[in-house]
Amino acid sequence: MTPEPALTLAFVGPEQAEIVRELMLAAFAEYESVLTVPSSAMWETIEDVAGHIALGGAVLARLGSETVGSGRFELRDDHVYIGRLSVLPPHRGRGVAAAMMLAMEQRAAAAGFREARIGVRTLLPRNIALYERLGYVVTNRYQHPRGDEIIVDMAKPLAPE
Ligand SMILES: CC(C)(COP(=O)(O)OP(=O)(O)OC[C@H]1O[C@@H](n2cnc3c(N)ncnc32)[C@H](O)[C@@H]1OP(=O)(O)O)[C@@H](O)C(=O)NCCC(=O)NCCS
Repeated sequence: MTPEPALTLAFVGPEQAEIVRELMLAAFAEYESVLTVPSSAMWETIEDVAGHIALGGAVLARLGSETVGSGRFELRDDHVYIGRLSVLPPHRGRGVAAAMMLAMEQRAAAAGFREARIGVRTLLPRNIALYERLGYVVTNRYQHPRGDEIIVDMAKPLAPE
């Protein structure tokens, strides 16, 4: 049996926006036929992505030599906002997303942030379940500004480093 390639994570800055965006587009593509309000992920330019990464950072996940996932975070006034968590379809269900979330949370905690937040569509219950397993709780529900779908905000306290 071939052993699983090792998972490694790397923090990157806006100069890696192209690869971060490429992974995001590949991961979010499946929602084009599912979401009634299309995700704005699908029309973010490299410059848009670089601008978001500049507000905090991004993480890339590799399995062996293949880059299979990305995520990004913004350090806001009193919390870190984590967004655009993306794992390529053939590599899902192996804990890559969970590992990226924990790494971004730890990075924010080390910078003094005490709360992580994310926003999720209720049409994606598996994603909500993933975040609940990671310790997030729903703090707010509201209608998507561009349509009928419902979004939940979820938050998790971060322990001081
Ligand atoms: C959500 C996502 C990042 C999870 O990545 P992952 O590496 O498979 O996640 P993990 O292995 O750490 O955890 C697996 C859990 O993720 C959730 N999940 C959501 N969509 C999933 C999918 N298509 N395949 C596998 N797991 C998925 C489930 O809760 C799953 O647990 P389960 O198998 O018990 O249902 C990935 O499915 C993805 O890129 N989806 C498209 C983009 C997206 O929805 N991003 C998040 C926006 S809030």
